[in-house]
Amino acid sequence: MRTVKSSVQGWQAAAARLAVPIVIVLQALGLVACSLQEPAQPWIEEIAKQEKIYRSRGADVPSGYVTDRGLSDYAGLLPSGFCDALGRLGSSDRWLDIGAGDGQAILDYYAFEDDAAPAEKCGRSFSKARAVAMSIENRRTDKWQQQAAIFGDDRIRYLSGKRLRQYSREELGKFQLITDVFGGFSYTKDLSQFVERALSLLEIGGAFYTLVQSVHLEDGKDNPKTWYLTELADAAGRDVKVCSWLKQTACAKVGCESKSDWNTPTELINIRKVCSDVSVPRMKLLKFEAGNPPRRRFQLEP
Ligand SMILES: C[S@@+](CC[C@H](N)C(=O)[O-])C[C@H]1O[C@@H](n2cnc3c(N)ncnc32)[C@H](O)[C@@H]1O
Repeated sequence: MRTVKSSVQGWQAAAARLAVPIVIVLQALGLVACSLQEPAQPWIEEIAKQEKIYRSRGADVPSGYVTDRGLSDYAGLLPSGFCDALGRLGSSDRWLDIGAGDGQAILDYYAFEDDAAPAEKCGRSFSKARAVAMSIENRRTDKWQQQAAIFGDDRIRYLSGKRLRQYSREELGKFQLITDVFGGFSYTKDLSQFVERALSLLEIGGAFYTLVQSVHLEDGKDNPKTWYLTELADAAGRDVKVCSWLKQTACAKVGCESKSDWNTPTELINIRKVCSDVSVPRMKLLKFEAGNPPRRRFQLEP
């Protein structure tokens, strides 16, 4: 069982010394919207640590921060209908991978038949959808550059330098399929806004496939001694399951597959958009500890 060293120790003294310079740096990076007159967020130090993880390169990348999962990994981690949904996409359809890291899953999808290992047959079809990889930090590999030169920006595209919420809808356009494997859904500080933005980018009938680890499971079979990473609470402070919360979303049909026998209790989530007025019940952030993924606690707004 993992143990956590409290990052709160000595926080107040450190924050007093670090708050102003950190706020200035983060504001310059567009990461906080507050002015210097407003009180610094209590987790500002944690946000700085999280940024360091995103920026890490080579030997400095923490071992848990995996950025090179391929399509076969996505097939094993996402809800069961994912490969079929990918395989059904036509050549004018679009797939967005939020938090794509190196973009390896998209490279595997576009690999020539001969390059594909048998396990990577997920989503195989004659026509390939246009695919967009999104990552905060640029992790494009040489392989990506080569494939992008062959297929062109219209077929495979890599977006970096911003978070999902920082793109306008016009910039991104609409998608039939959106995936997120340990990307924004596991890392964001604003869960409601993140889900609402992802769903707003889907065509009606399109689907969002994601997962979240170390959570209270829909089927209730998670070990209560779990070191939970993402916790939700209602306005009175009682635990709320991530699926129960998502199922309150307007214009969305949510399916959950609880995995209590995985290393950590993990919920695989599939959200189909059924009408245009998507609205996700608001959650506010109560706690944020940097990590891969970070530890977060949210509370439903009354
Ligand atoms: C641990 S890596 C996962 C990469 C890839 N999906 C994989 O499984 O190998 C996390 C990725 O999520 C991205 N990410 C985190 N929050 C994001 C957000 N709000 N918007 C876009 N990308 C985000 C990071 O920049 C990074 O590319």
